[in-house]
Amino acid sequence: MNRGSVEISLAELAARIRRSADGQAGRFVLGIAGPPGAGKSTLARGVRDELNLAAGGPIAEVAPMDGFHLTTAQLLAMGEVGRKGAPDTFDAGAYVDLLRRLREAPLGQSISWPTYDREIHDPVPGGVVFGDQRIVVTEGNYLLLEDFGAWSEVRPLLDETWYLDVPRPVIEQRLVRRHIRGGRTPEAAKTKVAQSDLLNARLVEGTRPRADLVLRKFGRAYRIV
Ligand SMILES: Nc1ncnc2c1ncn2[C@@H]1O[C@H](COP(=O)(O)OP(=O)(O)OP(=O)(O)O)[C@@H](O)[C@H]1O
Ligand SMILES: [Mg+2]
Repeated sequence: MNRGSVEISLAELAARIRRSADGQAGRFVLGIAGPPGAGKSTLARGVRDELNLAAGGPIAEVAPMDGFHLTTAQLLAMGEVGRKGAPDTFDAGAYVDLLRRLREAPLGQSISWPTYDREIHDPVPGGVVFGDQRIVVTEGNYLLLEDFGAWSEVRPLLDETWYLDVPRPVIEQRLVRRHIRGGRTPEAAKTKVAQSDLLNARLVEGTRPRADLVLRKFGRAYRIV
């Protein structure tokens, strides 16, 4: 079973990025895509921490796509709050602009990047600040979308792309649990997953062939599939 798939640790994944980044002038941008609940944020933080640990200092930082969620107030005004998480409920243009700025800015120049707060369910402006870090790990659902407005402009800004693949039932279970933790009733959580998250997951799954590397979590390591 799984013959032919290669197992790779988080440290090895980080070392792969370090080698590529060392061979390039300026900032190196790794993009991690995958469906909702795949574990992208967890993987991005893991790679950042491994890079920084091996370097003995902060050479990498995470730039989450989730920081570009439209605010709940904006979505309410648009009558779209129920679709939160769909591609058009983000400011994709602003994400592309800031990613480009981050790539092009000289190291040391301070650049604020918004994050997303799952407690208040809204973006946090300036949640993270880039300075000397020359490796950017950007992660989110829609990094590899094609023919979808400004999302299509993301791929050329990425030096390497990974797709984190997870079986659909696993995602479903994780998302239901997360919505319940976020305050929904079990029934409302299941409805949100079925009517919103899984539609988004399907769209994202179609972008998998565009990634340089497709990974699946396997125990403490990952498998290249
Ligand atoms: N390898 C794993 N095994 C089990 N649970 C995991 C694993 N990776 C992440 N999780 C859990 O799954 C949930 C989703 O993880 P994470 O937030 O990293 O996913 P994500 O892809 O960033 O999701 P989203 O698209 O919604 O931001 C979290 O509750 C996390 O603790
Ligand atoms: Mg995430």
